[in-house]
Amino acid sequence: MLYHSVCQRSRVLALPVGVRSILRHHIVSRQYSGGASQSSLTIGGNTYPSDSWTNAPQSIIAQYDRRLHVQPNHPLSITRRLIESCFPGFQHHNDLPGVVSVDQNFDSLGFAADHPGRARSDTYYINKDTLFRTHTTAHEVEVFRANTSNGYTIAADVYRRDAVDRTHYPIFHQMEGALTWDKSQFESNDHFLHQLQTDLKNFKSPSIEVQDPNPPFHKESNPLQEKYHSAIEAELIGAHLKRNLENMAVTLFREADKALKASGQEAVLEDKDPLKMRWVEAFFPHTSPSWELEVWWRGDWLEVLGCGVIDQPLLIRAGVPTRMGWAFGLGLERLAMLLFGIPDIRLFWSKDARFLNQFDESKPIRRFQPFSKYPAAPRDVAFWLPKAGPVVAETPATTSSSPSPAGGNATEPTLSETPTFHENDLMEVVRGTAGDSVEDVTCIDNFTHPKTGRQSLCYRVTYRSLEKTLTNEEANTMHEQIRQELVSRFGVELR
Ligand code: PHE
Repeated sequence: MLYHSVCQRSRVLALPVGVRSILRHHIVSRQYSGGASQSSLTIGGNTYPSDSWTNAPQSIIAQYDRRLHVQPNHPLSITRRLIESCFPGFQHHNDLPGVVSVDQNFDSLGFAADHPGRARSDTYYINKDTLFRTHTTAHEVEVFRANTSNGYTIAADVYRRDAVDRTHYPIFHQMEGALTWDKSQFESNDHFLHQLQTDLKNFKSPSIEVQDPNPPFHKESNPLQEKYHSAIEAELIGAHLKRNLENMAVTLFREADKALKASGQEAVLEDKDPLKMRWVEAFFPHTSPSWELEVWWRGDWLEVLGCGVIDQPLLIRAGVPTRMGWAFGLGLERLAMLLFGIPDIRLFWSKDARFLNQFDESKPIRRFQPFSKYPAAPRDVAFWLPKAGPVVAETPATTSSSPSPAGGNATEPTLSETPTFHENDLMEVVRGTAGDSVEDVTCIDNFTHPKTGRQSLCYRVTYRSLEKTLTNEEANTMHEQIRQELVSRFGVELR
């Protein structure tokens, strides 16, 4: 979910060659993008010309602007409000529109021209200059430029082409937070530093074990912005950021514990295996130094957020050169899934009263009670690829514990050839045909013929509706459509 973090990269690089992330460097436009064939697209009442970059499908456009993060009593809205409550005095921006420019989403944040997040395989383009935002950071520059508060949060829907499984959905929600100080408002630099130190003294300590083995910054692995920040400034801003986010995480996970206890589940575990946290060095184009916060909860390290000291050139571009400070970003779905015990990310989109009526923002958080689990109908599709060449195929959700680890890593090895097949294109065909009736798509076989060199892939598509039992016939019809679509779009040969 976060753009290229170091810890994610080490997990990714441990995987065999051929996995998607290794190939993320290719931002070249490829033939299989599943874009719109009309000359314009209408999104949220606005019309945009389409071009060879267009790859935003109708299924995404139709779901634009559902605004789940502000829908009263929706679990995403409850989670957003809980996070907002950790930042008193901040301004909360919850209405920023999801169609943004390439400049807002990437250029203004210092993303390199060949950053993998820009790839058409990962991002929904409306045309070459316009896209569905892939992260809430897309709004940082404009919010800094408006300069209406020291602290702010932004919650919004974000869009990424990705795997189909229970923790990945092409639209999810992020929350961004930032706090800056205007140094020109202080009598002297010492007064500014004194303010940071006083804040730090006054913070309550998080009351759980926090592991933070790395230095405040590191020349190679996590540099200070030497040109703009003194060592003490970077150190104090970093510490300020960490105390704020540790306390926020404790609030969230204590709520999750309370909800779990109230449901009568796993009450013993917590005392035997208490909550703890750790800071991991990370990399984002728009912060330095950068970190991720991971939380040990119920037997797992969970990646909760990415953060860092805001890139000073970004603040300069935003017209506030005398400000400096910190920012963080997190994914709301995975926190809400954990708080409420929601097992499938598709449920957030449900209009079913059996789902929606379970949540009440005026009451303590209660665990979701599954109303029923309808049977799964798995179907396999195997095919020969049209020609030899690099292929991006992997079993989803193996690269990271977080939903939607789109973005890859700028330091990953670059392959010299364009991929002939990208798994995200297949995911798109599945979504476009079967929509939310599919729970999971997994690559179960990847085989190269020893003599001919032809490559064959086999995917298991698990059909399961959240709302009804799918008949065999319904599953077969959808599956046949997907098979035919794969042939007509990618020229594969079915096996
Ligand atoms: N924009 C980052 C992402 O989507 C998250 C982030 C936000 C990291 C703010 C640091 C600061 O992956």
